[in-house]
Amino acid sequence: MTQDELKKAVGWAALQYVQPGTIVGVGTGSTAAHFIDALATMKHQIEGAVSSSEASTLKLKSLGIPVFDLNDVDDIAVYVDGADEINPHMQMIKGGGAALTREKIVAAVARKFICIADASKEVDILGRFPLPVEVIPMARAYVARELVKLGGQPEYRQQVVTDNGNIILDVHNLQILDPVAMEKNINALAGVVTVGLFATRGADVALIGTPDGVKTILK
Ligand code: 5RP
Repeated sequence: MTQDELKKAVGWAALQYVQPGTIVGVGTGSTAAHFIDALATMKHQIEGAVSSSEASTLKLKSLGIPVFDLNDVDDIAVYVDGADEINPHMQMIKGGGAALTREKIVAAVARKFICIADASKEVDILGRFPLPVEVIPMARAYVARELVKLGGQPEYRQQVVTDNGNIILDVHNLQILDPVAMEKNINALAGVVTVGLFATRGADVALIGTPDGVKTILK
């Protein structure tokens, strides 16, 4: 099976967690895009979606799924999203698609986080994938210097502006042995909007696409 077929399998498997009559949190990326295709088959049974990016909003709307502003919603039953890495503690690196801040906000509101990922995303220790950090543009050089002090090698993601008008630094060569502490430390830097570590609030369920089928991991 190709990687995209594995992503499709988990995207469709996530449909079993969607309850009729609810508002669904929707992530961003190629795996989440498969989930949106699946969700469209239930569009008359759900109330609608809250989206984590302009790209997902466009796709949701093009398939006729109502998209709500998060400020008008007080309950999201499940949030379904991909990941760049996930460890055995259900902690993740996210933000490969630069949507980390809105993803973290929607995930914070949701009662349950369902991570959908192909098996290549499973790791023992987070950090092989460069850690994305969304930064206010004027703080770029300062935050980069502080990230070097934390042991990483930040790289400016060229020509990327987030949906919130900010820039992304991708931090290479971090071995993230204490993800909760690293998340707190980076989030505390002035000028950082969000770090793409989802450790304090990890996934509740992981659906992992393998050539033998979809593996379900519960927290
Ligand atoms: C976007 C994300 C994505 O969930 C992550 O990059 C995985 O993407 P894909 O499903 O395309 O492999 O965090 O900001």
